[in-house]
Amino acid sequence: MKGKTILITGGGSGIGEAFANILSNDNKVVICGRNEDKLKRVAATSENISYYVADVSVPDDIDHLFKQMADKNIVLDVLFNNAGVVEQFEVLKAPYSSAQIFGKVNTNLSGAIAITQLFINQANQSAANLIVNMSTGLAIFPAPILALYAASKTGFSVFTKTLRQQLSDTNFRVIEILPPHVETDMPKQIGNMTKGQTANDFANKTIRVIDKGKLEYAPGFNMVLLKLFRKFLPETGLKIVDKVTRKQWQGE
Ligand SMILES: NC(=O)c1ccc[n+]([C@@H]2O[C@H](COP(=O)([O-])OP(=O)(O)OC[C@H]3O[C@@H](n4cnc5c(N)ncnc54)[C@H](OP(=O)(O)O)[C@@H]3O)[C@@H](O)[C@H]2O)c1
Repeated sequence: MKGKTILITGGGSGIGEAFANILSNDNKVVICGRNEDKLKRVAATSENISYYVADVSVPDDIDHLFKQMADKNIVLDVLFNNAGVVEQFEVLKAPYSSAQIFGKVNTNLSGAIAITQLFINQANQSAANLIVNMSTGLAIFPAPILALYAASKTGFSVFTKTLRQQLSDTNFRVIEILPPHVETDMPKQIGNMTKGQTANDFANKTIRVIDKGKLEYAPGFNMVLLKLFRKFLPETGLKIVDKVTRKQWQGE
């Protein structure tokens, strides 16, 4: 990827930060997120990175973000829908408020869809454009204690596939990335302290896959296992995943 103008949502930390650092060597990168200090820190590493504070779960923030970019004559060719939130959610043990539920689902699903539509509308449709959507193995087969995350990401995965078909005769390429365990704040938030890939390694591999023209990247044995559960063990598989994840993340 060279000479592109790229928006990375959630570019202030984790995998998004790694994408921003690597891609800013040969491209103009715009990052957004909620925490300005994090965004500032990443933007300070390269003159090719600029930032906007925007919460992707808030419709007005999203509209304002695209208005600010249009005012600066920024035309994007690449979108990384990377911002995401995860949490353990159990309706009986620890119910969330309705506002919390909307906020989390909007971050992973509605916000990303709204951003995608605005991205498509502002793009130069006669040039090559890329939409890279960060999905998860839990969109293949869910973990019950991550009900909100799995439900919203599964919805986003369906959106990605349907959008790819809608745009099949255009200059937009729609890519779905299903990361394995990558060591960022996200796995720690659900109690997963095991060793994974570094964000840098994963981002480098992902960019290579995208540059090869692939439409999906789902590395690792767990993805194969989850596909097998989906196909052959839809009910027992849920019980197994529930038991394993509770043991791993809740010590039950
Ligand atoms: N790490 C993994 O093992 C893993 C596995 C599967 C899938 N993924 C997916 O990969 C993507 C990146 O994950 P990560 O591991 O890098 O997570 P992370 O370290 O928690 O970073 C998430 C980023 O998203 C931003 N963000 C969260 N909510 C936001 C909101 N409402 N509006 C704007 N920005 C928001 C955060 O910044 P602010 O707090 O400043 O807003 C943060 O920079 C996610 O979509 C995740 O679901 C990760």
